Amino acid sequence: MNHVLITGASAGIGEAFARQLAEQGEHLILVARRRDRLDAIADDVRRAHGVTVQTLAADLTRADGVNQVIERIEHEDWGIKGLINNAGFGERGAFADLDHGRQMDMVQVNVNTVVDFTHRLIPRLREASDAFILNVASLASFQAGPQMTSYYATKAFVLIFSESLHEELKAEGIHVSCLCPGPTQTEFADKADLAGSLLFRMGTMTADDVARIGLARRHKAVVIPGFRNWLLAVLAQMSPRLVVRRLAGLLHK
Ligand SMILES: NC(=O)c1ccc[n+]([C@@H]2O[C@H](COP(=O)([O-])OP(=O)(O)OC[C@H]3O[C@@H](n4cnc5c(N)ncnc54)[C@H](OP(=O)(O)O)[C@@H]3O)[C@@H](O)[C@H]2O)c1
Repeated sequence: MNHVLITGASAGIGEAFARQLAEQGEHLILVARRRDRLDAIADDVRRAHGVTVQTLAADLTRADGVNQVIERIEHEDWGIKGLINNAGFGERGAFADLDHGRQMDMVQVNVNTVVDFTHRLIPRLREASDAFILNVASLASFQAGPQMTSYYATKAFVLIFSESLHEELKAEGIHVSCLCPGPTQTEFADKADLAGSLLFRMGTMTADDVARIGLARRHKAVVIPGFRNWLLAVLAQMSPRLVVRRLAGLLHK
């Protein structure tokens, strides 16, 4: 039986992916730290849609977090038709003042985990038809972001990684897509200390809408949900870098 594996499925955009894919009849493997949340979502969607859902609690800041998940997949010999690298977090503040361990954890979850899962699951994706990899980056991927320095850099990595992989794997029929949401109503802003920022006060999308657009366009290399977000990404790429990075710094205030 083939599954879609979703990281960060216990809340926000990841939870929305899980509920929408279950509605489409997909079998799921849900990964995050909060097992109670994963189990509650799994119970809901099993009852509503009759799909198979596996929940694997793993802390992806730990190097062995990915190992635990991969070992279980190999042990059970679960097929994988989709990989959604969604788990991630950000943190607002001056880089030099932020906690060293949390910055390292951010790089681990937002970057290393994406590379690790992707490389280790490609062999299984190759065995499925119409397979896909959907990596969740951000509008932050298109520019520098003072006061969120590491976060913007991690998301730039995800965008470039995904675009290159899109070209490499398309001949094999594996769609690789990078979803770049703007401000979205999830737990993200509170955890990143961004809730009161100008960026989030300017307007947000729902996690449901972001996930729906991401899934519908998962054959495209880069997906920016929402017209306003698309416009911001285009302007960021056309304007002088000095202007763009200074504006980004203001939006985090
Ligand atoms: N919301 C926004 O405005 C926005 C905008 C652009 C991009 N994004 C990106 O969208 C993705 C999803 O974020 P969201 O907005 O849905 O935020 P969220 O509501 O905070 O959800 C984040 C998910 O990631 C999981 N996660 C975080 N750290 C983890 C760890 N160490 N190990 C395992 N799982 C971990 C969380 O689960 P546990 O806490 O249970 O582990 C949760 O399921 C992220 O990559 C984020 O960077 C968000």
